[in-house]
Amino acid sequence: MRHFLSTESWSASEIDSLLATAGELKKHPVNERMKGKSVALLFLNPSMRTRTSFQVGIGQMGGIAVVLQPGQDAWGIEFEPGAVMDGDAEEHVSEVAAVLSRYCDLIAIRAFPKFQDWSYDRQDPVINAVAKHATVPVINMETIVHPCQELALMLTLKEKLGLVRGRRFLLTWTWHPKPLNTAVANSALMIATKMGMDVTLLCPGEQYLLDRRFMRAAKENAENAGGKLSVSHDIEAAYRGQDVVYAKSWGALPYYGKPQDEWALRKQCRHFMVDQKKMSLTDGALFSHCLPLRRNVKATDEVMDADYCVAVQEAENRLHVQKAVMLKLLEGK
Ligand code: CP
Repeated sequence: MRHFLSTESWSASEIDSLLATAGELKKHPVNERMKGKSVALLFLNPSMRTRTSFQVGIGQMGGIAVVLQPGQDAWGIEFEPGAVMDGDAEEHVSEVAAVLSRYCDLIAIRAFPKFQDWSYDRQDPVINAVAKHATVPVINMETIVHPCQELALMLTLKEKLGLVRGRRFLLTWTWHPKPLNTAVANSALMIATKMGMDVTLLCPGEQYLLDRRFMRAAKENAENAGGKLSVSHDIEAAYRGQDVVYAKSWGALPYYGKPQDEWALRKQCRHFMVDQKKMSLTDGALFSHCLPLRRNVKATDEVMDADYCVAVQEAENRLHVQKAVMLKLLEGK
């Protein structure tokens, strides 16, 4: 049984195949390919795009979506093996995953890291516990990676650029007042390298490098695909000549769980916000972001309203790629 937990275990040709299916589904969105199928959507964190696009996509294919928010409209869940459950959680993931597997054909979960201990969070314990106890395929709706967003980004780039191999892709850290999840940055780095792009990671300093697991995966991807991966802390040099600028803010891992300590570093980095002056250095690059985005904090109004901004197109493509993923997993079930 195949899960969709991370694109690390999906080859470039499998990703291409998912994107081709997504392109077909975009042309013919309504069908009955999920008739009689049901999907549990577990949200441990807020969402607008993910929740809406999954629910709508399942409905467009004749399936049933069940949205559950454990701890709010469903019982709180304990994910630790062997836990003495005298806290808030009423049931264990062992039963939750097993029971949902009896009702549903797929389980999707959003479980952000807890922002306390990166050595723990980097193991992605929540989704791995669900996958261990489920007897149906599990889909990652964002944990420490965001593979659905990766596919939406890549579908958008293929729609706009045609071939992406060899094109220049800048993943830039951008300003935000708080340290955010590294998931989308990890994912963008992995998918762009997997598809053979010439990738630059721009961040304020070494403290903002991504976890070694993802830096290593991206390096291996680039080697396998004949692409490139480099790191820069020089804004002007990094923007120059790029075909794509992808922005995301994230927390510095050495300060994980200590936002007040990171602040001294972060507060000096407001100038990383994406603006027209920086975009003018590129080779007429596309700009995108996973959204949500704080305007005039992460990117200016001018950038967000420009013709080259494809963030809304990428958000739309979440709908189509997720439908392709669900059909693929159901096929192999
Ligand atoms: N990009 C994304 O996952 O959006 P939501 O957090 O609104 O689902």
